[in-house]
Amino acid sequence: MNGDKKYILSLDLGSSAAGAVLFSREGQVVRQLQKEYEKYYPQPGWIEVDPNEIWYTMLSVMEELIASAGIRADEIAGIGIANQRETTVIWDREKGEPVYNAIAWQDRRTSKLVDEFRYQGFSGLVQRKTGLILDAYFSASKISWIIDHIPDARLRAEQGKLAFGTIDAWLIWKLTGGKAHVTDLTNASRTMLFNIHTLEWDEELLRLFNIPHQLLPAICSNSEIIGYTQPGLLDAAIPIAGVAGDQQAALFGQMCLEPGMVKNTYGSGCFALMNTGSKPVTSDNHLLTTIAWKIGDETTYALEGSVFGGSSVFRWIRDGLGLIESTAEIEALAQTEPDNGGVMFVPALSGLGTPHWDPYARGMIIGITRGTSSGHIARAALEGVALGIADALDAMEKDSGRAIRELRVDGTSATYDFFMQMQTDILQCPVMRPAVMPASATGAAYLAGLATGFWTLQEIRERYTIQRVFGPEEQPGPALRERWQKAVARVKNWDF
Ligand code: G3P
Repeated sequence: MNGDKKYILSLDLGSSAAGAVLFSREGQVVRQLQKEYEKYYPQPGWIEVDPNEIWYTMLSVMEELIASAGIRADEIAGIGIANQRETTVIWDREKGEPVYNAIAWQDRRTSKLVDEFRYQGFSGLVQRKTGLILDAYFSASKISWIIDHIPDARLRAEQGKLAFGTIDAWLIWKLTGGKAHVTDLTNASRTMLFNIHTLEWDEELLRLFNIPHQLLPAICSNSEIIGYTQPGLLDAAIPIAGVAGDQQAALFGQMCLEPGMVKNTYGSGCFALMNTGSKPVTSDNHLLTTIAWKIGDETTYALEGSVFGGSSVFRWIRDGLGLIESTAEIEALAQTEPDNGGVMFVPALSGLGTPHWDPYARGMIIGITRGTSSGHIARAALEGVALGIADALDAMEKDSGRAIRELRVDGTSATYDFFMQMQTDILQCPVMRPAVMPASATGAAYLAGLATGFWTLQEIRERYTIQRVFGPEEQPGPALRERWQKAVARVKNWDF
């Protein structure tokens, strides 16, 4: 059946760029392409993206990739999707037009609304049902905000005229020409409306957040044919066969298939996930319990540490401070100094996630003296991100009762050798970087390849190779982590 099919196309719609990767039957990257798209900051703490702009960027990436690879669209066996999670789009079902910009996952405008639920004592209920911490990060309060602020939106939502989706659902809707309004379990598990035990939308939570059920998409598993690209779009009806939130896709792409295996992805934010097997582990240490994937009838769960400051901080150093011209230059700048010169950088530009969950925290650079250089600031920024990961992994060890013996890493900043050595030294455990990246696109490709019979799990497993292992070379000493905790304590509740 797959004889004439030679490729899997993986779409990776991250927080700042739309990317596509073409994989050969041997699992090699044939070609990849990525384009950044705009983000909008209408008020401090607000972050929006234009759903149409994301779609047209993604479409042009797909078209250019196929054309430049010199292949025919009908040679593609299936499409896999990995996407930024939680980001919320609501659109008109008939016109296919968004009613408002997408509210991005980093957006903090609904923090006060979420506080109300916390004060009323709903944190326990939310954690029990969804595995999540009651926070503005997730989609529920963003949906409420849109339907309460856009004229007639609530009424039209109740009449079934509007559709909600995270970016995966929006992309599937556009790819299928409005035929499929579907999200997968991993993305659903980040809405704060989805019960991770029953694997269904939760009516009690929908009532709590006052969200009409009619808005919601159908749910699919992570590796199955959901629909086909609409005629005329890419000159072939290609099956959309694998979908997962980018972090879960990366866990799969990193072949963390056994309980206890951990990966961290260094994207706009940093997200560490540990496979916990077929049972959800409830966190006592402010981690999230989330769905890793469902393949066939088997559901796998994960514990997640979500550290909001990642390459978004390096981008701010590039765009906001103008200290570097490309984010990759952060490493060279950091290496102009032998240490941080006493500077600490808390990268809470979008508040703090694991383990603090403080939407009112803001970024801080402290310890500046007359001798502070841009190199010290760059070094402190890298350390700030790496120390945030260390806190998340500490929580993970406590919750799971397992020692983390190795960390698999991916994402753009995982290609920075100096940074990865710093991460290894702070963690005092080996950090392993795979040969094929990006892991999120790889994971989504694998999920689509499995559903279409293009690959077997055995083939995929055998293919995973490590490109480089970083081992601890220095001991940073307890002072660094103590100073970090002291600095973090100072940013809390800053913008309350
Ligand atoms: O939860 C947000 C996450 O999915 C975003 O990932 O890689 O775009 O920062 P990334």
